[in-house]
Amino acid sequence: MRLGVLTGGGDCPGLNAVLRALVRRGVSELGYEFVGVQNGYEGLILPNLTMPLGLDEVRGIHQKGGTILGTSNKADPFAWPVKEDGKLVTRDVSDVVLQRARDLKLDGLVCIGGDGTLTMAHKMAERGLKVVGCPKTIDNDLSGTDQTFGFDTAVGVISEAIDRLHTTAEAHQRVMVVEIMGRNAGFLTLEGGLAGGADFILIPEQPYDVDHIVARLTEMWETKKFAIVAISEGAFPTGGRQAVVEEANTVPGRGVVRLGGSGKVLADLLAPRLEAELRVTVLGHLQRGGTPSPADRVLASLYGAMVLDLVRDEKWDHMVCLRDGKLGFSPLGESRKERHVDLGSDKVRLAKSMGISFGA
Ligand code: F6P
Repeated sequence: MRLGVLTGGGDCPGLNAVLRALVRRGVSELGYEFVGVQNGYEGLILPNLTMPLGLDEVRGIHQKGGTILGTSNKADPFAWPVKEDGKLVTRDVSDVVLQRARDLKLDGLVCIGGDGTLTMAHKMAERGLKVVGCPKTIDNDLSGTDQTFGFDTAVGVISEAIDRLHTTAEAHQRVMVVEIMGRNAGFLTLEGGLAGGADFILIPEQPYDVDHIVARLTEMWETKKFAIVAISEGAFPTGGRQAVVEEANTVPGRGVVRLGGSGKVLADLLAPRLEAELRVTVLGHLQRGGTPSPADRVLASLYGAMVLDLVRDEKWDHMVCLRDGKLGFSPLGESRKERHVDLGSDKVRLAKSMGISFGA
């Protein structure tokens, strides 16, 4: 069995731990051979983007952030940017991917990625490629699994950042707004905010009401003269819209909306109505970088080893997942649905019971 392996989408702590586990089990227990496909699907579209992926390459990499294979969140075989008559347009190049897989003599392909990468993997499976998947994203928003690796590490970064922001908030009696990643899902803000002791947790699932936030801050100021507002990049005011850095399809082949600026939007709405000073911190890619947490290393390693069960049992077009604390499999097609914070969940209910405001 000769398998291609690619990592696609945004980098994420734990990707290298997956690769290490996959190769260790594959080579030692199953006698498989691996080909590293570089820069996501780009490595199956452009020439000379493969690398050896054996025991030597994966030794000791479980503690390293990023991915030794490189990644891309632009390379889509079904919307590949090409220049035609001087204009950039997108074309379906999935035939090229199929041919490259044949040229490389691949018996199957392991795709490690988030919703975009796994959706593409599913579409390639529909085109006849033997594909299995491994879910990753710091956002934890894939419907096919309860947990993705990378999330725990990012929550750790957010929690530490909020701890540090408390210092200035308290010393200067300020409102510190901290903008957190997560796209359209509020999991990172919810858990990071809870861990860090934020006073407000504003998530995309619950549009916030500025009057309510002003009233809560005014009330708070009677006893404690500082506040931490954790806000998702995808959060928005009632009747408003998400803050966007770049619209989808502004650039052909870059088919995702880039969110950003929600913290500033909130601060601008609050500033004229508060006496206290406000400051905004955008955590950005700090949340994706660095060494994976122990919990993420464990989950990533288990996913990496387990994905080979799918290959061994020829359960193509599936991915590994965690459901109710148990490792299992789910159809790749399911990963394309986004998962969101359930506003009726225990976590939200209990956070509210502690006096944390969700902005409405
Ligand atoms: O999906 C992971 C993620 O970090 C999101 O939380 C964020 O919106 C996006 O990727 C940022 O992507 P980029 O690295 O392209 O700016």
